[in-house]
Amino acid sequence: MVEVNQLSKSFSTEEGERKVLDNINLRVNAGEFVSVIGPSGCGKSTLLHIIAGIDEVDSGKIKINDNGNSPRLGHIGYMQQKDLLLPWRTVLDNVILGFELKGVAKSEARQKAMEHIETFGLKGFENQYPFVLSGGMRQRASFLRSVLLRQDVMLLDEPFGALDALTRHQMQEWLVNLWRTLGNTIILVTHDTDEALLLSDKIYVMSARPAKIVMSLEVDLPRPRTHATVTEPEFAKLKAKLLAQLHEK
Ligand SMILES: Nc1ncnc2c1ncn2[C@@H]1O[C@H](COP(=O)(O)OP(=O)(O)OP(=O)(O)O)[C@@H](O)[C@H]1O
Ligand SMILES: [Mg+2]
Repeated sequence: MVEVNQLSKSFSTEEGERKVLDNINLRVNAGEFVSVIGPSGCGKSTLLHIIAGIDEVDSGKIKINDNGNSPRLGHIGYMQQKDLLLPWRTVLDNVILGFELKGVAKSEARQKAMEHIETFGLKGFENQYPFVLSGGMRQRASFLRSVLLRQDVMLLDEPFGALDALTRHQMQEWLVNLWRTLGNTIILVTHDTDEALLLSDKIYVMSARPAKIVMSLEVDLPRPRTHATVTEPEFAKLKAKLLAQLHEK
């Protein structure tokens, strides 16, 4: 379970205080898949940074499994928006970074990663360096690195933004299958309303900066959801609600 209570955050800049998050409250139950959607620059990545433990709150509280004091950094799977692949490591050795930090032997970690290299469209590139990869491939490598550890809580910041529609759909399906197998908790940031509706149990909509939560939408569409789901009337109804909120000035 992830709980964010009355979270506010400002940055000091040359022009003065920049308020980014304004009293954010959200609750993600254990095993839930929740998306966060909102205009560019509103503070979505900042929110994930704070939940992951990379950034500090100004005021407010983050609780994981009812505990507000447990260490979060390194205990939560986090795929940042920037792929942060290390240029001096091969693709495979980038992917196994999380395992290595946990003390897993390199050979074992590599073996585990190799089981997914083909699914992630990286076959034949495992021993290359990140600079030879396309943007979409980098994103998939970074995605694999973040989910390989199968942590109880995973934060994903626009994991599929650089992918074409077909690959995006395959990766979404892979993620949902992983989530259903593990029963873990996922918070996904996206700009894509269809993606949010297809994947989530619940969607939080953030306003422009300073961001507040302006809507919490339960997505009660039956699972499994497929690409055909987007043509159903129930889907269209939820999408209309979401778009109306996003376009509100
Ligand atoms: N370290 C920082 N110092 C100053 N301002 C910052 C810092 N980090 C983020 N900001 C500002 O906070 C605001 C929110 O940034 P953030 O990256 O969280 O937005 P976002 O919702 O993730 O945007 P996008 O959808 O484009 O990824 C922006 O105005 C950004 O300039
Ligand atoms: Mg962002």
